[in-house]
This record gives sequence, C-alpha cells and structure tokens, in this order.
Amino acid sequence: MSFRWLPALLWLSAGLLLLTALVDLSPAWREAAVAAAVGCLLLALYFVRRLYARFATLREQLAERNADIEALQLELTRQQRRRLALIDGMPIPLLICDADAMLRYANRLALEWFGFRYMTGKSLLALTFSYDLYLLMLKAARRESAVSGEITFSFPKERHTEAHIWYLGEADAHKLFAIALLDKSELLRLEQVRRDFVANVSHEFRTPLASIRSLAETIHDDPEMPHGTRQRFLNLIVQEADRLTRIADDLLTLTRAESMQPVREVFELAPVIQQAVQEMETEAQRAHVSLTAELTPDLHLLANRDQILQVALNLISNAIRYNKPQGSVTVRTYAEGHTAVLEVADTGIGIPSEALPRIFERFYRVDKTRSRADGGTGLGLAIVKHIVESHGGQVEVESEYRVGSVFRVRLPLYEEPAPSHEQAS
Ligand SMILES: Nc1ncnc2c1ncn2[C@@H]1O[C@H](COP(=O)(O)OP(=O)(O)OP(=O)(O)O)[C@@H](O)[C@H]1O
Ligand SMILES: [Mg+2]
Repeated sequence: MSFRWLPALLWLSAGLLLLTALVDLSPAWREAAVAAAVGCLLLALYFVRRLYARFATLREQLAERNADIEALQLELTRQQRRRLALIDGMPIPLLICDADAMLRYANRLALEWFGFRYMTGKSLLALTFSYDLYLLMLKAARRESAVSGEITFSFPKERHTEAHIWYLGEADAHKLFAIALLDKSELLRLEQVRRDFVANVSHEFRTPLASIRSLAETIHDDPEMPHGTRQRFLNLIVQEADRLTRIADDLLTLTRAESMQPVREVFELAPVIQQAVQEMETEAQRAHVSLTAELTPDLHLLANRDQILQVALNLISNAIRYNKPQGSVTVRTYAEGHTAVLEVADTGIGIPSEALPRIFERFYRVDKTRSRADGGTGLGLAIVKHIVESHGGQVEVESEYRVGSVFRVRLPLYEEPAPSHEQAS
C-alpha cells in the first residue's frame, strides 16, 4: 500500500470516532465503529513507522553520498596541489596565458627570472618586457596551435632562450596557452668558449709551425750557408718542435683531466709535494732562486696522486719561472679545518690586478713574449684549476705586481671512517 493512503486512514478513523460521539448508535454498532477507528489508527501508525524507517535509510544514504563528495573534493584539491607543485618545481620557467596574452599562472622559476613575486593578472608584455614573446603568443592564439621561436630577454638580465607555446584548451570560457622558456645562454657561452679554444689552439700551433717552415726554407734555399748559422737554425727548429710537443702534451693532459674520472687512492700529501720540490730543484738553481719547503706531515688525501703531483709541479714551475734572480719560492702544506692547503709563495714579478681574473684561462699569459721565451704554453694554470676542482677543491691567488704571488690550493682532507659498532666492541 502506498503512503498516499495515510491521510485517508487518519480521516477515516477520525470520522468513525466522530460518528460514535455525535450519533446515537446501538452498542453493537458503536463497538464496531470504535474497533474500525482503532484499526485505521493502527494501520496509519504502521505506515508512519514504515515512512520513518524509509526516511532514516534515505538520511543515511544522503550522509554517505555527502561523505563521498567530500572525499572526492579532498582528492581533487590534493591532485590540483600536486599538479601545481609539479609545475612550480619544474626547472624551466613556465607561464600560462589567455588568448589576450594576460597571465594566469607563473611557476616559481618564471617569477625568479623576471624578478616578480606575484604575476596573476599582469599582461605578458608588462611582465617580460619582450615584444617578441608577446607577438609569438598572439601568433599561437591566432592559430590555436603550438609555435616556438628564439627570444632574447634583456630585463632583468640578458638571456637567450627558445620559447615554446602550446594550446592547453578552454577554462572558464577562456582559451589558455602554456609558455615554456628554455635558457640557451649557457649553451651559447660554451659554444663561444669552444670556438675561442679552437681559435687559440690553431693560433698557438701556427706560430711555431710558421717558424719551422721559414727556417727550413732558408736552410734549403742557401746551400752555401755557413756551418755555424745552419747549426743555429737547426737548433731553433728543434726548439720550435719541442714547443709544439709541449702544447700537444699539455692539451692532452687537460683533455684527460676533463674526460676521465682518475683512479683515486688515499695517500700522504707531504711526500708527493717533497717529490715535486726535488724535481724542480735544478730549475730553481738555474734561475738563481732559492726553493724551500715547510711540509706538515700526516695530511691524507683521497685523490689521484699523479694529478696532485702535476698541480704542485705547475705551481712551483711558475713560481720559479716568473721570479727574479736571488728571489725565493716557499712551498707549504698545512691543515685548515677539514681541508689540506698547498701554498706556493714567491717573491717574483707578481701579476697585475687586471690580469688576475684571467690567469686560469687556457692560453692566457700576462707577458706572452716572456712566457713563450721560457717555453710556456699558457695551459699550466688551466690544468691546475681543472684538477683541483674535479677533486672538490678550490684554487686561489693573491698577488702584488712586482712584489710576488701566493697560490693556494684547498683540497678536502681524507678522514678515516669511524669504526663500526661491531669493530669497536
Ligand atoms: N707565480 C707567478 N707569478 C707571476 N705570474 C704568474 C705566476 N704564475 C702564473 N703567472 C702568469 O700567468 C700566466 C699563465 O700561467 P700558466 O702556468 O697557465 O701558463 P704558462 O706558465 O705561461 O705556461 P705553461 O703552460 O708552460 O705553464 C703566465 O703566463 C704568467 O703570466
Ligand atoms: Mg705555467
């Protein structure tokens, strides 16, 4: 029976009760009418209970649905947050714009790039100061497809980028586009460094090769040349050939240091530096320069022994080569916290302050003629810097022009691993 009958039952029972009260019925009819009214009431009560039970079930179902909706909303919010965190943490600047080039979103790196804290609501042009990017964005909006192009930003600093723009779809009746900026400045800088390097190498090779050629031609064209002159020319040819070999050797050392992960071992620093000092003693005597060493024992490194020897040899050789007669070179090693320091100090010609930032560059020489005359290739310090940095260290220089220089190499000290628990017990 449907609930539609409920009011009818109530009305019926009320009617029956009214009938017994108002109409003078025989006792038998009255009892029958009262019984019928009570019956109707009981039936109505039964329906009310059923109705109540059904309401209770509905209420429970509603509560369950509400809980499901809340859980879904929570999950949706979490997903949105995860997506935002993903975009925000991306290592490329990312912007989201509408078709009018108004910004909707910018990730953290994009904010950093353009020096803004908040971006929403700003126009792309006002934010990036790049008309080229603005035009590229409008082009993407017109085509509703992906476009890319090279964009150079000059504010807040110069950056060469490749911008990619693609259509994301519609949201709140707005067409949205994503802009990703790939920084190519470092790539272009490296490309320039490589070009300079190749140009330098060819230049360095060309000079001795030209001398060898002209000396050989002179000897060839003059069969009557006096013996002494011929001998001098031949010596010069050998010297130039040696120079070429040295450049090739240094370039090879540098390339090896750059490309290979050298074998490392634990060794004591002092004996290696002592070996370098001994190897350079003859050169120091020839240059009338005194060479002394003050080495702290028991400093251990986890490093490539040959490369550390090379570092010491290059620094000591410079300190002798760019010294004055009766000058001195002092080589020291000591500990400073968790680092070992190798210090090579000289009382030599010093380095002018404007040249200091450049001396670690490949082929850079303060006085090209002096260095060349001494057989220098300009690669010694580049090799030092590369080896030291590949060992997690740093190299620094202090110098006073015409007074002297101090080169300091800092390398991480090897520290014995603490004994494990079982070993200790
Ligand atoms: N101790 C020093 N005192 C003064 N000038 C120095 C010193 N060490 C280096 N220089 C300057 O820095 C330049 C670069 O040094 P680097 O060792 O790289 O090359 P190089 O000595 O010319 O050649 P090589 O490759 O044979 O070492 C030198 O030409 C010199 O002008
Ligand atoms: Mg040198």
